[in-house]
Amino acid sequence: MSINIGTITLTHGLMLAPMAGVTDRTFRRLCKRYGAEYLVSEMVSAKALCYEQRGKRKSLSPSGTAPLAAITREETPMAIQLFGSEPKFMAEAAKLLEESSYRGCQSEIPPVAIDINMGCPVRKITGNGEGSALMRNPQLAGEIVHAVSRVVTLPVTVKIRAGWDASSINAPEMAKILEEAGASLICVHARTREQLYAPGADWQVITDTKRAVSIPVVGNGDVNSAEDAIRLFAQTNCDGVMVGRGAMGNPWIFSEIIARLEGKTFAYPSVAERLRVASEHLEQMILHKGERVGLAEAKKHIAWYLTGLHGAASARARIMTAEKQEDVVRVLDQMVIESEEKHPF
Ligand SMILES: Cc1cc2nc3c(=O)[nH]c(=O)nc-3n(C[C@H](O)[C@H](O)[C@H](O)COP(=O)(O)O)c2cc1C
Repeated sequence: MSINIGTITLTHGLMLAPMAGVTDRTFRRLCKRYGAEYLVSEMVSAKALCYEQRGKRKSLSPSGTAPLAAITREETPMAIQLFGSEPKFMAEAAKLLEESSYRGCQSEIPPVAIDINMGCPVRKITGNGEGSALMRNPQLAGEIVHAVSRVVTLPVTVKIRAGWDASSINAPEMAKILEEAGASLICVHARTREQLYAPGADWQVITDTKRAVSIPVVGNGDVNSAEDAIRLFAQTNCDGVMVGRGAMGNPWIFSEIIARLEGKTFAYPSVAERLRVASEHLEQMILHKGERVGLAEAKKHIAWYLTGLHGAASARARIMTAEKQEDVVRVLDQMVIESEEKHPF
């Protein structure tokens, strides 16, 4: 199962889903190390990126928009995801990203594609006609893709939902419109906006979308193990699989899926290795974002790494109140010692 996006080929079509507040540089690099073949940035506001260019101040705030679009060499191939509802701003932002020469740009390397968000369910976004609100406005959705693909040479990809609600499932029709407008790939999150992130995804809409278009279709929703990925490929005939929450605290899911696809066995890392990577995750986030922000943001990741481990509840409680990196590392080291005492061999 391989997939082509512009000039790049992904052997297995295995992608890390964009997740705002989760899939930052540190997490993306770890997922890539363990097998993710393609990364997507957290969503970036097209309008905010454009307005940032018009500002007069010399230095940009580190919490501005441009840092969200930064790509390091270790992360390629990576797409940047834009959200917005105005074709003019979407096109302008896409061009800036392609040229990678905008004010505040921290990228070492340009993106390999521009992805457009048509799935975000958050009211603040849909209230502006952005994200999944575009599922209710296929004409505007098409105009956005058309405007963006006219100004960039990079492939334009779109991440959509099944539809707005159960009575308006329209991913196959949307995909056709977007393909005609110039999209090179469609990723379908098999839930409606109304469902948010639960209950279970209904993959039938991925099958239907794959039948409707000739560009590659990537399936997304509830891939939490290698078995899920194999089933998704088999049931829907999709060209690629995008993993979201299943990778939280578990970047090894990509190695597991690749092993299964290649008919090889895969052994999950030991508790000690898992916790060593959790410590590394913390260290890298602090290096990237500074101790205060890095520590605060890393805590949720560390908590995910502990899922299913003996003593996780009390360790999590101590980590959540930790004020320094050393305090968290001490908790993780203690867990390693306890796990080795329980399973000395
Ligand atoms: C915390 C969080 C943030 C997300 N942020 C984005 C985003 O920025 N852009 C996007 O297209 N989807 C976003 N999503 C949706 C995911 O990319 C994915 O479609 C969804 O989680 C379903 O996949 P899963 O069942 O594998 O998690 C987000 C999901 C979560 C849980």
